[in-house]
Amino acid sequence: MPNGKITGIGFYVPDNVVTNDDLAKIIDTSDEWIRERSGIEQRRYFVKGVDTVSSMAGHASKMALERANLDAQEIDCIILATITPNYTLPGSAVLLQRELGLCGKSVPSFDIRQSCSGFIYGLAMANDFIRSGSYKNIMVVGSEIQSTFLEMTDEHRNTAVLFADGSGAVVVQANEEDDMGILSTHLHSDGTYAENLMVEYPRSHNRKEDMSNGVMGLNMDGRLVFKHALQKFPAVINEALEANGNSISDLDMLIPHQANLRIAQAVQRILEIPDEKVHNNIMKYGNTTAASIPIALNEAWELGKVKEGDLICLAAFGSGFTWGSCLMKWAY
Ligand code: UT7
Repeated sequence: MPNGKITGIGFYVPDNVVTNDDLAKIIDTSDEWIRERSGIEQRRYFVKGVDTVSSMAGHASKMALERANLDAQEIDCIILATITPNYTLPGSAVLLQRELGLCGKSVPSFDIRQSCSGFIYGLAMANDFIRSGSYKNIMVVGSEIQSTFLEMTDEHRNTAVLFADGSGAVVVQANEEDDMGILSTHLHSDGTYAENLMVEYPRSHNRKEDMSNGVMGLNMDGRLVFKHALQKFPAVINEALEANGNSISDLDMLIPHQANLRIAQAVQRILEIPDEKVHNNIMKYGNTTAASIPIALNEAWELGKVKEGDLICLAAFGSGFTWGSCLMKWAY
């Protein structure tokens, strides 16, 4: 039974660069505070009339297809992780299907809404589809436009400075070699703290009233999220390593979800992973939720930090709470 492997990777970020100083002109914050607490130096916001979640996903997917040396027509399943679909209905995966010129093929395409863990959930599903023989060439994408739900007020400055827009995509295909590609995936959730990181409106049980209210109700208990992240990230990374008889010293590269540089650094300290074995790029792009892992993985690969045969761990934690990991032997 072949497992899946990533055979092509791509990304897209909008042209609109927003610096910390730009935000400090609108809300009571500073470049110093944002860098110190989150590591973020700048982020990208979508360009109105140019970027949508599906158009950005289309750009990232086309790059991944080209690098996989695969024609879009050969894609037989599309999984799009996003908490910010173009429309409430339908999901954005069908719009990505259209971007890729695949409407006539009627391949399955669906959205998943696992926020920061969405890409890992998508990768796990793709791997299981390949293992079961259901599909052969799967596009897995994380794409977000979050700048439109941010509230640029002093009251919401903890979230206003964190979240941003972007897209990352991978092609997953069957791996014929033993012990290469995706070795295992590990998915978890716990709804106890669902309201501690949420975008509340519009609610299906009160939609009309919510729509006239005009706000999205983004709420985050940053400290609580931070505390849980420091427990779940190390646990789910160790779970992946142990499941494959590996230990931290075997790991060549950790790509954590880019939630906050301080979280990634604390996880690195807890697990005693050296600097050269962790890749972070939240400094440039902020927290792009479902898109952050493929964007960071793409960058690490482009920089030559992810090489054939390397043991790579992807790990995420976020709203829900949901968390997960994927261990793979890189076989591009
Ligand atoms: O994708 C996954 C989901 N999200 C996360 O993983 C986020 C996890 N949490 C965090 O990243 C951090 O909690 C934040 C970066 C959001 C906040 O950092 P913090 O060190 O936990 O700050 P805090 O919320 O405890 O606030 C400390 C102070 C407060 O002022 P007082 O009450 O001490 O006077 C805040 O009002 O910092 C203030 N503050 C800010 N000041 C300047 C909060 N946000 C800002 C800001 N600029 N943007």
